[in-house]
Amino acid sequence: MGTEFTTQWTSPSNIALVKYWGKFGNQMPENPSISFTLKHSVTTLSMSVTKSSVGTIRFLFEGMENPKFQDKISKFLLTQQIRFPWLANYHLEIHSSNTFPHSSGIASSASSMSALCLSLLSVDEFITGKKFETKEFFKNVSELSRIASGSASRSVYPGLASWGESSAIPSSSNLFASQFSEAHDVFKDYCDSILIVDDGEKSVSSRAGHGLMENHPFKDQRFLRAKNNLIKLIAALKSGDLNSFTEIVEEEALTLHALMMTSIPSYILLRPESLWLIEQVKKFRLEKNIPVCFTIDAGPNIHLLYPQSYKATVRSWIEAELSEKLVGIKWIHDEVGPGPVSVVEKC
Ligand code: PMV
Repeated sequence: MGTEFTTQWTSPSNIALVKYWGKFGNQMPENPSISFTLKHSVTTLSMSVTKSSVGTIRFLFEGMENPKFQDKISKFLLTQQIRFPWLANYHLEIHSSNTFPHSSGIASSASSMSALCLSLLSVDEFITGKKFETKEFFKNVSELSRIASGSASRSVYPGLASWGESSAIPSSSNLFASQFSEAHDVFKDYCDSILIVDDGEKSVSSRAGHGLMENHPFKDQRFLRAKNNLIKLIAALKSGDLNSFTEIVEEEALTLHALMMTSIPSYILLRPESLWLIEQVKKFRLEKNIPVCFTIDAGPNIHLLYPQSYKATVRSWIEAELSEKLVGIKWIHDEVGPGPVSVVEKC
């Protein structure tokens, strides 16, 4: 029998400013987090469904079979069979590709899992004939994405997205993310240049890192500090206070890595080049009086965050000076983006 329905979504990655690190229950965050949704670092995923006597999946990543990713998706879909009973009677053909290389310091699970869940919900609407209102649709996608990969819940929204309970954002929930639209204009098109010092697979996964927070000696202090940092960051985002933004964002990045270094067992994902770059960013900021700051994901690569008005200056510093001093460094220039886009939907 031929394909009944095909949907295709492009969904972005995101970079957290206050970090989600530690969870409980069914992927609930121990503390609230907030992130910039990126523009150019995206996953495009198409899903075609065909009636079948048993539920099956074929997954191609960048045109090639990928048993590791296929297994991850199959396991996730197995957990969703009660919610989507039709999974038992359809064959799913899934094709996925990224605009950015693997392990480049860009959270590929955020873009890929949100793209998967957007497609899954579109297929569900087609099969059940039950169409959600736009707002409800994205809320459901965010909730589903959260179960696949916590940070993916935030990729569903443009600009800034928060996830987790906080007195600073009454609408923010542990179950799904929501858009934070009260930020000062300077943050609407903020830039993120990702400096890649090592694009190898990281030695300790984020899943293992979250697990180590359960018995972490500093866990209570960390969760409290993150909650307070979110409150302070929301104030800075609203007022456009770039000094306070810098202070909180850099503290969050260094704390994330300090938590890894003090886990039991401990581990280090930063490289000597990461530390060198941090020093250079601080020096550049002081000497040129430019509000550029760094953040770091769970890896060695450094994200440089700066206002759009400093784009030319910061990018020429990276391309001319940094690249000369740090041979082999690569970079990806990104910025805050508009969120997921539905590319095609056909029967
Ligand atoms: O969504 P996960 O399980 O891959 O965890 C993401 C953790 C960080 O990227 C380090 C922080 C965050 O909030 O995105």
